[in-house]
Amino acid sequence: MDELIAAARAAQAQAHAPYSGYRVGAALEADDGRVFAGANVENASYGLTMCAERVALGAAVAAGARRFRRLVVVTDASPPGSPCGACRQALVEFGPDLEVQAVGEGDTRRWRLADLLPDAFGLEGRAT
Ligand code: THU
Repeated sequence: MDELIAAARAAQAQAHAPYSGYRVGAALEADDGRVFAGANVENASYGLTMCAERVALGAAVAAGARRFRRLVVVTDASPPGSPCGACRQALVEFGPDLEVQAVGEGDTRRWRLADLLPDAFGLEGRAT
């Protein structure tokens, strides 16, 4: 198992998902090789739930990372669960070329982030 998948699986084991039972782990590799992991953190209010991908992204940004090579998202789902729309938008802030890999029960899927979120919203080149 590669290092990023192992980091995401370790984070998944820490998921706080008592409401959905859907445990997610994410690991983001920065361009300097550092790895940042996250798990979903649910809340009794439901709406305050944080996805694993954005928890990992927040940890990375807080540590000063801004450029990323690869994101691994692990679940126990089949087919593997892809990042939700909100996470796609949060991630594209840091670049459309991110390689996204979803690992589930058995199979794996891969995409380039730009293919998961075509014509993404961004402020560059837009009138203010
Ligand atoms: N979840 C994630 O952590 N990442 C996603 O991309 C999709 C959804 C979490 C949120 C919630 O805790 C559970 O999965 C069910 O939606």
